[in-house]
Amino acid sequence: MRQSPSRPLRRWRGRGKKVPKIVEKTHGRPGLQSLLKPKRERGIEIKPKRARVIGIFSCKGGVGKTTTAVNISVCMSEKMGNNVLAVDANLSAPNLCLHLGELEPKVTIHDALAGELPIEKAITEYHGLQVLLGSIAYGEEVHLVDLKGLLEPLKAEYKVIIIDSAPGIGSEVVAALKACDEIIIVTNPEVPTIASTLKTFRAAERYKVPIVGVAVNKVRGEPYELPIRDVKKALGWPIIAVVPEDRKVCESTAAGIPVVRYEPKSPAAVKFRELGETLMKHLTKV
Ligand SMILES: Nc1ncnc2c1ncn2[C@@H]1O[C@H](COP(=O)(O)OP(=O)(O)OP(=O)(O)O)[C@@H](O)[C@H]1O
Ligand SMILES: [Mg+2]
Repeated sequence: MRQSPSRPLRRWRGRGKKVPKIVEKTHGRPGLQSLLKPKRERGIEIKPKRARVIGIFSCKGGVGKTTTAVNISVCMSEKMGNNVLAVDANLSAPNLCLHLGELEPKVTIHDALAGELPIEKAITEYHGLQVLLGSIAYGEEVHLVDLKGLLEPLKAEYKVIIIDSAPGIGSEVVAALKACDEIIIVTNPEVPTIASTLKTFRAAERYKVPIVGVAVNKVRGEPYELPIRDVKKALGWPIIAVVPEDRKVCESTAAGIPVVRYEPKSPAAVKFRELGETLMKHLTKV
């Protein structure tokens, strides 16, 4: 069935002149402009992934590096899916697996380091999070490793890689630092912890690794603790999270379920989730 001519075409006809072919062809149908425009595929964006590597560091042991790393990674993976990878870079005493309820991971970063597996094959999934776990049973001494080189092939597969570092400032920590684009430093609000955390700042400076900010964990709000404003003054960096000491974290660690899943409304879980969101916003800016 022929469509009745569009209004401009009727107007043209009304003037009693012959309608040029091109007008006849395009009026009432897709405009001339769009016919002449080169066809472009919509919704296809070929943009290579290039993971941003964010490390969780602190010279001091037991401040909550692994707890922070695992909880923010789980939160980020809820929004970013399989674009998030968490890596246990605590090669001499790995325990990221325990925070995920795994005692004996079948494949580990140690297998990849030993050349027994390609790095991609050492990745597993727990609680919806992609992880590169370490082997608790690994008994060998950890020699100099090129973690940056080891993770390089994975950068094309993820948007963010979260590295859980070992404490101290030994060779494995330096290897982890060198692999990072940026780091978050975790501390507790006690004077000795703050004092040793300063060493991590110096190391970051030495290896020219930018610092996103400081997460102050296990805050009890006791009078003997350093007030947050003094922590900020002492360290000279923005505080991007203040996480309370929360027994739900201890329970969740014992259960092998990150607290953001174990007790999502607990005070610490809320703060870890906020830190995950802060980091995601940060990633959109860099
Ligand atoms: N906000 C918190 N409230 C209560 N307990 C916490 C909190 N954060 C961490 N913990 C507990 O502190 C202990 C040490 O935490 P975690 O293993 O994350 O520290 P770490 O800095 O990674 O230690 P390491 O230096 O040995 O790797 C764990 O038992 C964990 O459950
Ligand atoms: Mg740890």
